[in-house]
Amino acid sequence: MPDVEAIIKKYLPIEEGNISKLVEAMNYSVLAGGKRIRPIIMQEAYKLFGGTGKAIEPFMAAIEMIHNYSLIHDDLPPMDNDVIRRGKPSTWKAYGEATAILAGDALQTFAFETATKAFELSDRPDLVVRAIRVLAQKSGVDGMASGQDVDVQLAGQPISKEVLKDIYKLKTGCLIEAAAMIGAIMAGADDQEISIIRRAAADMGLAFQIRDDILDVTGDSATTGKTTGLDERNVKTTYVTLYGVEEAQQIVKDLSNAAIEKINKLPGEKTFFLNLINQLEVRNK
Ligand code: IPE
Ligand code: IPE
Ligand code: MG
Ligand code: MG
Ligand code: MG
Repeated sequence: MPDVEAIIKKYLPIEEGNISKLVEAMNYSVLAGGKRIRPIIMQEAYKLFGGTGKAIEPFMAAIEMIHNYSLIHDDLPPMDNDVIRRGKPSTWKAYGEATAILAGDALQTFAFETATKAFELSDRPDLVVRAIRVLAQKSGVDGMASGQDVDVQLAGQPISKEVLKDIYKLKTGCLIEAAAMIGAIMAGADDQEISIIRRAAADMGLAFQIRDDILDVTGDSATTGKTTGLDERNVKTTYVTLYGVEEAQQIVKDLSNAAIEKINKLPGEKTFFLNLINQLEVRNK
């Protein structure tokens, strides 16, 4: 299988012949780099359940497009107001707010256009339909977009531990769940297997966002590629404000172990997944 970067590039929109800067801004965002953990998790879940062939590839590109749309909008002035992303000017800084809003919108619709290309690569249209539905559900009202809305609406207000956890499950956990579920669905995993990997991915997603909170405080901008100290500036309640750095990192560790326990219940070659969970637990970017 070609590497994740090549797969993402292959499905990006073509810039030539476009009257607007929209496609340039879309590709600027996606090609600025990034850890690509969502398509990586998707590809590994696919392999774990015996998936072969290219039908997963459009979905790998699609989830990275949805993720990048969420980042473009997240950085906008009325949201987190960040001027750097992955060490470069954030999309609104480079192209202006209007084009950034539209680039996010267009990445979202292009993600679904891209996902439909899986019909041409698979002889299981039922699985493709199911995977597209999961991508939509976990991105929108039952997922990332709702989480982002609550996150922004509650900035500056005290939030309970329970509510903060619910926000993180939505804004960050859902796309990571979608990645794992789509990999499993497209490989033909059964409902019980999909449920186990979804719950492991939910643990991973929550851990991922808590580690992100920690890096906002303890990380350095040159490594994270984002403005550090931004959560405090935006008066965000985070795991660091509610628990402190040390206890927050302990929660990351506990969630990682919980994810490992679930993955270990699955058949197949799990080494990659287990290593990834351990790496994400202590990541610095
Ligand atoms: C950043 O996601 C937003 C969060 C959910 C914390 P990533 O840390 O995956 O961002 P990139 O794609 O690697 O830049
Ligand atoms: C955002 O969380 C999660 C998204 C769904 C984009 P953050 O606002 O903490 O992400 P960063 O720190 O800007 O990457
Ligand atoms: Mg945010
Ligand atoms: Mg942000
Ligand atoms: Mg953050």
